[in-house]
Amino acid sequence: MSERTIGELCETLMRLREEAEAGGGDKAVAKQHEKGKMTARERVDKLLDEGSFVELDAFVEHRCVNFGMEKKAFPGDGVVTGYGTVDGRLVYIYSQDFTVMGGSLGEMHAKKICKVMDLAMQNGAPVLGLNDSGGARIQEAVDSLSGYGNIFFRNTIASGVVPQLSVILGPTAGGAVYSPALTDFIFMVDKIGILHITGPAVIKAVTGEDVTSEQIGGAMAHNQISGNAHFFATTEDECFGQIRKMLSYLPSNNMEEPPFCDSGDDPYRVDESLRDIVPTNPNKGYKVQDVLTRIADGGEFFEVQPLWAKNMVTGFMRVGGFVTGIIANQAAIMAGCLDIDASDKASRFIRYCDAFNIPIVTFVDVPGYLPGKAQELGGIIRHGAKLLYAYSESTVPMITVVLRKAYGGAYLGMCSKDLGADVVLAWPQAEIAVMGAEGAGNIIFKKEIDGAKDPQAMRTQMIEEYREAFATPYQAAKRGFVDRVILPEETRAEIYRALVQCEGKRQLRPRRKHGVMPC
Ligand code: HXC
Repeated sequence: MSERTIGELCETLMRLREEAEAGGGDKAVAKQHEKGKMTARERVDKLLDEGSFVELDAFVEHRCVNFGMEKKAFPGDGVVTGYGTVDGRLVYIYSQDFTVMGGSLGEMHAKKICKVMDLAMQNGAPVLGLNDSGGARIQEAVDSLSGYGNIFFRNTIASGVVPQLSVILGPTAGGAVYSPALTDFIFMVDKIGILHITGPAVIKAVTGEDVTSEQIGGAMAHNQISGNAHFFATTEDECFGQIRKMLSYLPSNNMEEPPFCDSGDDPYRVDESLRDIVPTNPNKGYKVQDVLTRIADGGEFFEVQPLWAKNMVTGFMRVGGFVTGIIANQAAIMAGCLDIDASDKASRFIRYCDAFNIPIVTFVDVPGYLPGKAQELGGIIRHGAKLLYAYSESTVPMITVVLRKAYGGAYLGMCSKDLGADVVLAWPQAEIAVMGAEGAGNIIFKKEIDGAKDPQAMRTQMIEEYREAFATPYQAAKRGFVDRVILPEETRAEIYRALVQCEGKRQLRPRRKHGVMPC
């Protein structure tokens, strides 16, 4: 027997590594590039800090012997997995390799994904899932279905433990959509990312509808219409920038605080231009982002799900270095009223912040719930209830700033004192009441108005009296529902002080397995 030298053994290893790195080969890689897509490895290299990626399981292969599969094997089995860093912080990653059997998911492919998910949970770091796959590997039959089942199970167990971000960079169809749907945020790239349960051919066969993949599963469809996705990007590079930004606001796991970062922006900075943004006339709109960017460190507000349910704004920003999760009514869209989608969007985001120790700051300017048959029969009762539920069960610091209108049930729903706000601040133009002055005046002064010689003049007078007395922050302040009425320019400093004050907040709840959230 000839003895092999260490040099030969090392050469063998290097050759095997090269084979693994080649994925599906030059032709398949060229085809991937022609479709305007990066390869799985290019993506990992682009997304992670340069040179930080450590690959695991590069030599894993399938063990399927059906349909000639025994003659077809690729090291890595169609998914690149491992760990690395983003801005120096540990993340686990998997990136499906479409050049290998269409990135289809079989038994071993799934095992690789499960391994990084297990490591992420064990070591407390985010999981980034880059999806580009033809779905369940047909030749592996029930083994591939089981693979998905194992991933779904881990997605659920990891939920609220480590951040899980899904990136849709190719086809993701059938039951495969449910892994992204179980994760925290879905990022999609236009033109290449597709997410749907049944494709156009099946839809045509079953319902007769003519649709394109783009219409039912494209990045814009899910960001704008279905609300399944949270971020839209036109290129993969742009998408990776969004992911890195998102990670900068998140703790690595639920046992950590979100990363504090002193930008040098004075936490007590006063911005008098805030006085001019929110009109005192409750019927006039404005963009709430103009308020948020004036309060945020460095004027930076990172909006989450900006294209869907736009009457509700959600996102992250820092105040005095502290990460905060923002919920804000958008007065410029549907007067900022609450509807089914806005309630869903906000309540999920609140639960996210609570799960990951991110203080919640709520900016209120809400006239009420959107009236209408579609809303009532669409289930606004249970959807709206989610908002109450999410705030009430949250134990992170919660600060509420009433900018202007806060009427009725919507006032309660937007993190009132009664639902658990630690600090409630109100601007001088705040109107905290059961309803707006006009509606209230018409009801409670009906007799006086109807009996007056000039009912119109009487109506105007009574409404004005009501407005003076009740459409203010002071009735609520008299009862302690508002802690402080503040000048608009003081908002940043007031939020900062509240964050510092509540930094050590500990709130215990009765022991239970889990609640039953309305859905
Ligand atoms: C095995 C697959 C595959 C799959 C693609 N391939 N999908 N192999 N199982 N699911 C292979 C192709 O045979 C081909 O192999 C290579 O990947 C590239 O595929 P193309 O068709 O040439 O690529 P393209 O034209 O870009 O089309 C991509 C595609 C199409 C739209 C994704 O491949 C497709 O429709 N695939 C089937 C999708 C599907 O029905 N999946 C099952 C969904 S059900 P060669 O050797 O020719 O290069 C599901 C259930 C999950 O996922 C349930 C979980 C609970």
